[in-house]
Amino acid sequence: MHSILNNLELTQKEFWNVPRVTGMFLNLLARGCGSILEVGTSNGYSGIWLASSGARLTTIEFWDKRLDLAKENFKKCNLDVKTIQGDALEVLQGLDGTYDMIFVDANKTQYLDYFLAADKLLRKGGILVCDNILSHEEKCRPFVEVINSHPNYRNVILPLPGGLSMAVKIL
Ligand SMILES: C[S@@+](CC[C@H](N)C(=O)[O-])C[C@H]1O[C@@H](n2cnc3c(N)ncnc32)[C@H](O)[C@@H]1O
Repeated sequence: MHSILNNLELTQKEFWNVPRVTGMFLNLLARGCGSILEVGTSNGYSGIWLASSGARLTTIEFWDKRLDLAKENFKKCNLDVKTIQGDALEVLQGLDGTYDMIFVDANKTQYLDYFLAADKLLRKGGILVCDNILSHEEKCRPFVEVINSHPNYRNVILPLPGGLSMAVKIL
C-alpha cells in the first residue's frame, strides 16, 4: 500500500489530493470509526488513507475517469470501498444510513450545502472533517460561519496544509 501511496504522490497536484500529512491525520481519526463517508474521491488517494484504518468507506465522485482510477487504486491496495458516482449534493440528499465520520473535499462553494445535507447522516459524537478551509477561505466562509455558531457542533480549524476543519456533533 505504501508504494502505491508513494506513486500517487507523484501526481498529487494533477489529482488535487490532500497532502501526505493530512492523509496520515485522516487515517488516525478513522481508526476510531466503523463507517466513513467521503465527499470528493478523485483518484482515491485520501480514500486509501481512510479505508486502510479498517473502517468501512463510502466515497462520492462525479467524474467517471477519476472514479475509475480510484477503483483501480483501491483494488491494488486490497481495500473494499463502496464508490458512488454522481453529484455530491444530490447523492448526499438521497443517502440514508449513519456514519461516524464524514470527510468533505469536493466543490468548495458547496460546503455549506454539503453540511446541511450530511448532518442527518452523521451520528451524535461523529466528526465532520473538511479540507481547504484556509486555502479557499472566501468560498468556505458561509460553511464556517454556520458551523462555528451551530448549537449541535463544536468546530476547530487545524493548521494543516490548506486548513482542515474538524467538528464534533455534540447534540
Ligand atoms: C480536491 S479533489 C478530492 C481529492 C481527494 N479527496 C484526495 O485527497 O485524494 C475534489 C474532487 O471532487 C470532485 N467534485 C467536485 N465537485 C463535485 C460534485 N459536485 N460532485 C461530486 N464530486 C465533485 C472533483 O471531480 C474532484 O475529483
